Amino acid sequence: MDKIIVRGGRRLAGEISVAGAKNAALPILFSTLLTDQPCSVRNIPDVADVRTALRLLSDLGATVEQDGADVTVEARELASWEAPYELVKTMRASFLVLGPLLARVGRARVSQPGGCAIGGRPVNLHVHALQQLGAEVELVHGYTEARAEKLVGAHVQLDFPSVGATEHLMMVASLADGETTIENAAREPEIVDLADALRSMGARIEGDGKSRIVISGVPRLSGMNHRVLPDRIEAGTFLIAAAMTAGEVMVRDARPDCLHALIEKLREAGATIEEHEDFVRVVSSQRLRGVDIKTLPYPGFPTDLQAQMMALATVSEGTSVVTETIFENRFMHANEFMRLGADIALDGHNAVVRGTERLSGAPVMATDLRASVSLILAGMVADNETEIRRVYHLDRGYERIEEKLAALGADIERIEGARG
Ligand code: EPZ
Repeated sequence: MDKIIVRGGRRLAGEISVAGAKNAALPILFSTLLTDQPCSVRNIPDVADVRTALRLLSDLGATVEQDGADVTVEARELASWEAPYELVKTMRASFLVLGPLLARVGRARVSQPGGCAIGGRPVNLHVHALQQLGAEVELVHGYTEARAEKLVGAHVQLDFPSVGATEHLMMVASLADGETTIENAAREPEIVDLADALRSMGARIEGDGKSRIVISGVPRLSGMNHRVLPDRIEAGTFLIAAAMTAGEVMVRDARPDCLHALIEKLREAGATIEEHEDFVRVVSSQRLRGVDIKTLPYPGFPTDLQAQMMALATVSEGTSVVTETIFENRFMHANEFMRLGADIALDGHNAVVRGTERLSGAPVMATDLRASVSLILAGMVADNETEIRRVYHLDRGYERIEEKLAALGADIERIEGARG
């Protein structure tokens, strides 16, 4: 198992580019199952979750050809309609093949995802929505089995603006008979990117990016040609890293319009942020002030940047209250920060962080993707050495992050195949 060693005290400076968004690439890759035509998806990130998705597509019978960040998927005929436990347990997003398989071949069998390090994460909203479109869905021996002779458009009111359920519905409704309306839809930029990809296949979708999405089903979809949008969470991670190390960094391919909530908070903390059409520059020369954050569905503050922002709070001046409202258990990193000397009091969905001048390096354990990167950030402002174990979580969603941070001046290295 690899581990990462960070020696703190360096200021980040320079330019860095972000990769394509993992959380947009995954549903877009799965939507290639909706057609028998070749689909070209560009700007996919080189991360473990994307490799898992490509493996799943090829297990299902699609031909997958990859050339760097560009991939062509052709699901001319499907060899299977099942996503096995082994794959779904490595990546919960695999559950999103259920709908496309159902819409394409009328049946699907996908392992039911379990809980994970950040919470229970049920799929009831996905299942309920598919049932409203006419699917019969049941749970059999740990598998969600779905069948539908015909899918028919419906009016679906989501109890919560779930990203995955909204994506699932957009894919399925694109091939259903008639019109589907999604009320209380998720509004994340990744939803809009998936809608763009589906429209390039001939789908008729309106309202994506708003709470009410209307999809008029079409009998068949053609191939797609789509470039995945840049990863706003990777971009945000670099902005936070630069701000907390009193650095000066230009983050290229970052779309500031997708990063408003973070940019506002970094400004409130005392960093200077310049917004340009396709890059953002952050400059910070002093210790930042603590700010309160509360995670919310987009356009609120993203839960996927909460851990990184908490890392920043541990060394800011004053007190920050971090409130997590999206996931029930997304504070595992707080206990690891405390091992580095951070002053954090946890109380249910709130973490009260009293900033200290400097953290103190120690071995720590990554528990999920965003927790892993937040520990790297904390290590960059800790004295001595911080050793981060279980970095396979990191590799699920960040492309060569240690190389990118090293290029900005961080003292960071990966030790391959280390024990523990
Ligand atoms: C997506 O997960 C992202 N994953 C997550 O990114 C991200 O944290 C999350 O959206 C919120 O922004 C991908 O896009 C692959 P949800 P998703 O459905 O779709 C509850 C990362 O680090 N819920 O909006 O699973 C659920 O339990 C990850 O990159 C139900 O109760 O998120 C959670 O509390 C982690 N029933 C909340 O809604 C359901 O049927 C938000 O989940 C579905 C969700």
